[in-house]
Amino acid sequence: MNKLENKKILLVICGGIAAYKSLELIRLFKKMGASVKTVLTKNAQKFVTPLSITSLSQDKVYYDLFSHENESEMDHISLSRWADLILIAPITANTISKLSYGLADDLATTLILASNKKVFLAPAMNVRMWEHPSNKKNVNKLVDYGYNFIGPEIGDMACGEYGEGKMTEPENIINIIIKYFENLSKNKKLTALVTAGPTHEMIDPVRFISNKSSGKQGYEIANSLKNNGFETTLISGPTNLSPTNGINFIKVNTAEDMLNKCLECLPVDIAIFTAAVADYRVKKIHNQKIKKQEKLKLDLEQNVDILKHVSNHNSLRPKLVIGFAAETNNLRENSIKKLLEKNCDWIISNDVSNPEIGFNSENNKVSIFYKNQVEENLPKMSKSAIANEISNKIISYFN
Ligand SMILES: Cc1cc2nc3c(=O)[nH]c(=O)nc-3n(C[C@H](O)[C@H](O)[C@H](O)COP(=O)(O)O)c2cc1C
Repeated sequence: MNKLENKKILLVICGGIAAYKSLELIRLFKKMGASVKTVLTKNAQKFVTPLSITSLSQDKVYYDLFSHENESEMDHISLSRWADLILIAPITANTISKLSYGLADDLATTLILASNKKVFLAPAMNVRMWEHPSNKKNVNKLVDYGYNFIGPEIGDMACGEYGEGKMTEPENIINIIIKYFENLSKNKKLTALVTAGPTHEMIDPVRFISNKSSGKQGYEIANSLKNNGFETTLISGPTNLSPTNGINFIKVNTAEDMLNKCLECLPVDIAIFTAAVADYRVKKIHNQKIKKQEKLKLDLEQNVDILKHVSNHNSLRPKLVIGFAAETNNLRENSIKKLLEKNCDWIISNDVSNPEIGFNSENNKVSIFYKNQVEENLPKMSKSAIANEISNKIISYFN
């Protein structure tokens, strides 16, 4: 029964008609053993009273960013650090819009912006408000930022209209949150290895062979896996990115370094190879800078194919091996060929001939090739949204 024992939930309530349902949410959270602290927006106080919330949560209610009493006892930063999870239910169109712009003009929005926790949003609003293009745009932005939406549902609304916009019922919200914590503790037992970025294959002390990979997609995947509880190691070639705290980070230069570090990391449960590893290296690296000459001949030899090598490891093959394919043509054929040739479980392919997606861009558009199935042309999304999709698929796979 106490499925949320010792869990600390920070519940933010906004000024919508569904705010009365958050009282039931608090009751259910308490019943499941969780501690609940509640933040009300100024407008939420018109719908529910601090007194009823305090009675249910057995804790004080926070609503004023500039309250001397609140700030000295538990300021906006400590509130978000205290929580294991933040839930905004209901979230209004207004607060969705504020979060999408990074506004921080009250306690609720300030603590969300300052938060380092998983944030779930349960919207509730009139169907026209929900479907308004500006709201849709804001929602997409929040998905890209890594917020998790619960609902809204389709049904009869308090205003008498019918459509999408009803807040998900408290019991269902609680079940999603219980599932999230269950997955988190299951995932903590799983280890993940992610490679990212290009490699540098030295020609002489100042020159190298490389490619345009920025490493963004791999860093986002590592971040998302870490946020979902996986013990994550990121092995990265040279990039301008910094990993987030909590990821075991290993920096390498060459394909050979990357291979050796990958092998040192085994065994792992999941290996995701997003790095654009150079296929060739120079056979003999020159000790001195090569002088300009009429004809320069570089003798190249093939690097070991890391994905193929790990995927065919006879004793330490990860349970799930995922490769990335950057293609400029024949994406489908090449991806299926790669899946078979490399003996991996999934191939995630993107078309890097389009400058709006793929290398160095913020967005990506991928197709996922499984052994017996294909999910072709997923919609164009930010690399962080794609990373979350992939994490969710990995979580389902292990469930
Ligand atoms: C009776 C009433 C019901 C409302 N219900 C909703 C609602 O369900 N969803 C919503 O997005 N806004 C609703 N609003 C509008 C919000 O209260 C308004 O946009 C407010 O600025 C939200 O403030 P907050 O986001 O800081 O809580 C309602 C307003 C009134 C007067």
